Amino acid sequence: MSSSLNQEKINELIQIREKAKLGGGQKRIDSQHNKGKYTARERIDMLLDEGSFEEFDMFVTHRCTNFGIEKESYYGDGVVTGYGTIDGRLVCVYAQDFTVFGGSLSISLAEKICKVMDMAMRNGAPVIGLNDSGGARIQEGVNALAGYAEIFQRNILASGVVPQISAIFGPCAGGAVYSPALTDFIIMRQGASYMFLTGPKVVKTVTGEDVTQEQLGGASVHATKSGVSHFTVDTEEEGLGLIRNLISYLPQNNLEDAPLAVCTDNIDRMEDALNEIIPDNPNKPYDMYEVIEAIVDNGKYLESQTSYARNIITCFARFNGQSVGIVANQPKYMAGVLDVNASRKAARFVRFCDAFNIPIVTLVDVPGFLPGTGQEYGGVIVHGAKLLFAYGEATVPKVTVTLRKSYGGAYCVMSSKHLRGDLNYAWPTAEIAVMGPSGAIEVLSSKEIAAVEDPEAKAKLIAEKEAEYCDKFTNPYNAAKYGYIDDVIEPRNTRFRVIRALQSLATKKLVNPAKKHSNIPL
Ligand code: HXC
Repeated sequence: MSSSLNQEKINELIQIREKAKLGGGQKRIDSQHNKGKYTARERIDMLLDEGSFEEFDMFVTHRCTNFGIEKESYYGDGVVTGYGTIDGRLVCVYAQDFTVFGGSLSISLAEKICKVMDMAMRNGAPVIGLNDSGGARIQEGVNALAGYAEIFQRNILASGVVPQISAIFGPCAGGAVYSPALTDFIIMRQGASYMFLTGPKVVKTVTGEDVTQEQLGGASVHATKSGVSHFTVDTEEEGLGLIRNLISYLPQNNLEDAPLAVCTDNIDRMEDALNEIIPDNPNKPYDMYEVIEAIVDNGKYLESQTSYARNIITCFARFNGQSVGIVANQPKYMAGVLDVNASRKAARFVRFCDAFNIPIVTLVDVPGFLPGTGQEYGGVIVHGAKLLFAYGEATVPKVTVTLRKSYGGAYCVMSSKHLRGDLNYAWPTAEIAVMGPSGAIEVLSSKEIAAVEDPEAKAKLIAEKEAEYCDKFTNPYNAAKYGYIDDVIEPRNTRFRVIRALQSLATKKLVNPAKKHSNIPL
């Protein structure tokens, strides 16, 4: 009878699905759990809204016949792909399944990833990749490399169109690292993930260095030394929760705005402590995090690259429910100076925000660019130019508040009026000039000072000269006189003034000249 035949076929489907869900089998799932790791499906379940996941290509298997691999085949072939929602918003997802050939990449596996990426592009949804893979599937030869390159090409075309987020929950080696590197954000799990182009054995052969996987490409290395990763987490749960949080600050794609959150914080909250935060001594630091916490909604922010180039802070936060990117010099670390790493870090963040219509709030306290051969040989000219370029090309609303120092080239770079800063405010404590008083006096009056022999008289003359310079320049009014600063504001009122500024810029329209693309100094 047809109904029993139907039932038989449905049972077959159920059986295949059950088998597919086991990936490489229960033994390998247990081994994954024993390593303190979740499976691909468990990760997806934790990431997405409950019951929202729709899987694709569960029945795909590899098509390789080399080295006897044809005798071993698993449904899904090492990656779980599909779509679902995070807080009701569509996202496309793939999670490499380490239980199938160590999550290694076959051409079939690559095709599955490409399919969800194509879907994300068509539907304007973020792509989230959960990586845990032994790299190119060795038996597939050049087909595996072709698969990687197809993914890279899609990463490149999707860049600036939909947000792309990569979590690394296991190995990520060889050219495989380039897919995450092409995405917007990388999250690494402490002690359980690593990224490198060549592993410790090859390193030993080529350079003679003895390094462990952790020393070569562990989460700490990429969070502090290379700047490859953006977020470090201790557990997979934390990493998946972080992705949900990050997504909440972002729009679905480059044609939309980030979702407006309900604001439960007073928009005109006065923060008296800010009136006192700048120390009397201009060479004394204070903590820029305290300023950020005081002015954003409910003191909450999500920081990217916390441990890399700590002289500049990059984070997402909200003002009156509106998502913004904050770039802030940190006087507490290297006096907030701009150097190679800070410039690269902030430039990439500014460009991300601009690509995805996220307004940029810049908090300035910068003594200038870091001098010295280390920086010059490291190309501080070209890296500083990146940040200059990023701010100058950005067309999103740009609100700048200068808290204290803003000297030299760093004044120009940090979202100044001249780089199309929309609203540029300064605190009364701002010092805007070509350089600090001691350097300026050194240049302007060195002969006059050298001519004085008596040490006491010399010190008195230097103090007088510096006082004269400070009188003239270490204030915001000189810049305000020319309209480079739109208003000098009371520090405790900063939150309200920034919110007002952002409201006034909600309808901002600014378009750069038509071109194929710019030539940012890479
Ligand atoms: C095929 C692979 C594989 C690979 C792992 N497996 N990597 N199969 N191709 N690249 C298989 C293993 O044979 C094993 O199968 C299972 O996955 C689990 O691997 P184990 O070694 O048992 O796991 P573990 O001890 O945790 O070690 C994980 C590992 C190791 C460190 C990732 O497997 C490893 O070193 N793999 C090779 C990594 C590598 O060199 N990849 C190529 C990188 S170059 P069974 O049947 O026993 O479960 C590259 C180029 C990309 O990727 C270029 C793009 C442009």
